[in-house]
Amino acid sequence: MEDKQPDNAPGQALLTFGKTFGRAGGRPLSTRQKGFFADLYPRIEIPIAPANSLDPSTLFDHDPAEIWFEIGFGGGEHLTGQAQRHPQIGSIGVEPFAEGVGKALTQISELELTNVRLNRGDARDVLLGLKDETLDRIFIMFPDPWPKTRHHKRRIVQHDSVALFVSKLKPGGRLRFATDVMHYADWALERFCANDRLDWTATAADDWRIPPQDHVTTRYQTKNLGDCKPVYFDFIRL
Ligand SMILES: C[S@@+](CC[C@H](N)C(=O)[O-])C[C@H]1O[C@@H](n2cnc3c(N)ncnc32)[C@H](O)[C@@H]1O
Repeated sequence: MEDKQPDNAPGQALLTFGKTFGRAGGRPLSTRQKGFFADLYPRIEIPIAPANSLDPSTLFDHDPAEIWFEIGFGGGEHLTGQAQRHPQIGSIGVEPFAEGVGKALTQISELELTNVRLNRGDARDVLLGLKDETLDRIFIMFPDPWPKTRHHKRRIVQHDSVALFVSKLKPGGRLRFATDVMHYADWALERFCANDRLDWTATAADDWRIPPQDHVTTRYQTKNLGDCKPVYFDFIRL
């Protein structure tokens, strides 16, 4: 591990990976959000399990048709938007940022979603605990770009993390990556394409330039903080 975990990060130690996020606190939580953390979060928290031990379908009250996993859901708009559109799936979101988790909990409560499970922590720690080949979809939407060269090692997409993502996808499972940062688009594409168990589904430029039909736009995306139009890369696990 190259970097020390930030002092205000959630409890889980990163055993194998470097840090990919800078702060995990943010603005103070509202009284309502604190209430959700106290009441709702413990009921829907996905635990960090020993490596390769947890079947994620057992986490849900219903028998989920598919299990979807979102890495770094930010304010939760995509996570809860997809869960609302697809009540038959089981949706897992992981995000270290307390304010983001607070917002997601609020949406889960207001929309009365019963098919979402959360962890406030590092998605890679949660993924490690899942049994291999149990996920139908993984989403990495507009990850932190870490634009400075010396910070590229903090990007969530690295050769070893791609190998982890792939190991948790079922054969035929899908992974979506989106960014509006040109260097990260190239960086990520290189690392995904280097994995011989992933096949990029694009056959024409519009396949990655036009938002996929099932895309849910987040508030972060609408800020247009990057240096290019959003790109969307969809891969299939072979
Ligand atoms: C730029 S924001 C985008 C949020 C959201 N995906 C969206 O599109 O609105 C990236 C998020 O990834 C989270 N993140 C960074 N490293 C992470 C990790 N290892 N596991 C889970 N989330 C992570 C950050 O806390 C941040 O909220």
